[in-house]
Amino acid sequence: MCGIVGILGSEPVAERLLDGLKRLEYRGYDSAGICTIHDDQFDRRRAPGKLKNLAQRLSENPLPGLAGIAHTRWATHGAPTEDNAHPHIVGEVVIVHNGIIENFKPLRDALIAEGREFYSQTDTEVVAHLIAREIESGAEPRAALAAVLPKLHGAFALGVMVRTHPDLLLGARLGAPLTVGYGEGENYLGSDALALAPLTQRIAYLEEGDWVAITRESVEVYDRENNLVERPIVNSGASGQLIDKGNHRHFMQKEIYEQPVVVAQTLRSYLRPLESRVALPDMDFDLSSVERVVIVACGTASYVGMIGKYWVEQLARVPVEVDVASEFRYRDPVLLPNTLGIVISQSGETADTLAALRHMRSAGVVTAGIINVPTSSMAREVDLLLPTHAGPEIGVASTKAFTCQLAVMAALATNLARAKGRLEGEADVVRQLQQVPEAMSQALSHDAEIEAMAPKIAVARDVLYLGRGPEYPLALEGALKLKEISYIHAEGYASGEMKHGPIALIDDQVPLIVIAPSGPLFDKTVSNMQEAQARGAQVVLISDAEGIAQAGENAIATIEMPTVHSLIAPLVYAVPVQLLAYHVAVAKGTDVDQPRNLAKSVTVE
Ligand code: F6R
Repeated sequence: MCGIVGILGSEPVAERLLDGLKRLEYRGYDSAGICTIHDDQFDRRRAPGKLKNLAQRLSENPLPGLAGIAHTRWATHGAPTEDNAHPHIVGEVVIVHNGIIENFKPLRDALIAEGREFYSQTDTEVVAHLIAREIESGAEPRAALAAVLPKLHGAFALGVMVRTHPDLLLGARLGAPLTVGYGEGENYLGSDALALAPLTQRIAYLEEGDWVAITRESVEVYDRENNLVERPIVNSGASGQLIDKGNHRHFMQKEIYEQPVVVAQTLRSYLRPLESRVALPDMDFDLSSVERVVIVACGTASYVGMIGKYWVEQLARVPVEVDVASEFRYRDPVLLPNTLGIVISQSGETADTLAALRHMRSAGVVTAGIINVPTSSMAREVDLLLPTHAGPEIGVASTKAFTCQLAVMAALATNLARAKGRLEGEADVVRQLQQVPEAMSQALSHDAEIEAMAPKIAVARDVLYLGRGPEYPLALEGALKLKEISYIHAEGYASGEMKHGPIALIDDQVPLIVIAPSGPLFDKTVSNMQEAQARGAQVVLISDAEGIAQAGENAIATIEMPTVHSLIAPLVYAVPVQLLAYHVAVAKGTDVDQPRNLAKSVTVE
């Protein structure tokens, strides 16, 4: 979503701010802007669309100044126009904002009633007015910010400068991440450590409700009660190099190809092959006391939860409930004693999942988090952090994070099963999991075939995906992947549900992607597939040699996966599902890495 960079520099800042914004591009945005203070005046460039538009404006009309703030905006209130782009200037105040001010309407109405004029449709401009009003009535900038923050409801990260105080940069966070970077004679503000990595590795992560006053020489952090507090300075370890695509055309393609390596990396931290054991980090609760599991996540991560439900229930015989986070807390869920709450998130910042985590914690539920960003809000708030080691995921469509989350979920299910005294053959589980990277590499070797069949799918208006058992959530994931990057309408169904409605959609124009490894459920899925074929469905069958020999005859295409154990099939079959979506999107010419309307880290509800 939106991105913030601020620099109080000893050298000109505009180019460096632009560079910081480039490093935040992956989050998704639809306009951008930079404002500096120079000769005691604000100077600002903004542009709708991609950063190259802003870069063009800067090259035509450079921005001088040693202090400035910059922003990539993902529109929430008002279209992605130049007027709505941040930074917003009101009187002596310039501001950038991530998140949503939920009570902006009454605040705006009251400000208008006072005679204040608005020039944008954003919720952000309300905050600018409130701070400007404090300053006009004589408050100094720190006091002005501190007076306004309690009036704001919602989720936000703010960067603020005041024209008359060019040596001061203010920031605040509530529900959206914000970091402070420490430099030599310079200091910085950024949405994440990645944005600041070329400037500094010395980072402090602000806590919920914190606000900060930054000068070139000092950083003062205050909590929500305005007490001066210390936030540790850590080495971010983020690379100063712009993460590049290597030999790949898109980040998504690169990330699909990285999977054998990052899944192996993730598994390495959980598997103890010499002891034939699947381990978890130390925890201060007893897994054997867990009587039920509640998994909460959004989008792709929620499908990991659904696959996890099959695994945990089968292996550990512990009942599992899976919820999309946006529904979870508003339905006032019943959280019984001895529940383990699990959140799954790549970014660790998704607003709904974070809120669900806090809801569970406040109800006394012990929580675990399968999270890719170890410095994220969720990673810092869960009782047990179960890291994935996927590395930064830049493509908006999640791929390598998904399979790494599955690897960790398998480790968790195995540990729960052992704790419940139900695990048989742990050595075999370890062996199966160790085979995943090799099996994924074999799956990747079918890339050219999948690319060749993509144009046939790219002309479709609707695509259906079918799967059974753990391959049912994979069907949902396939459909999500396809729709988000190719803009083709796609739905995933449990195979057995077809004839309860969706089969009405089938005709000879509708490709049906069937995900069906051979095994006990295979024949049933094939029956459902044949029912659809009898009505003209164009089937693409993803199965292993045995499955394809048995049922591939009338398919328009088959994709042969290696023969694998049912436990690891979802990790392996994820690869062709991702590649198919990728190649269809490329065939359609869409913006694969930054699909329209989407953001990477969804920090608003
Ligand atoms: C789909 C996708 C999203 C995310 C979802 C949760 O490709 O990327 O559905 O999975 O927004 O994001 P995280 O995992 O960051 O909580």
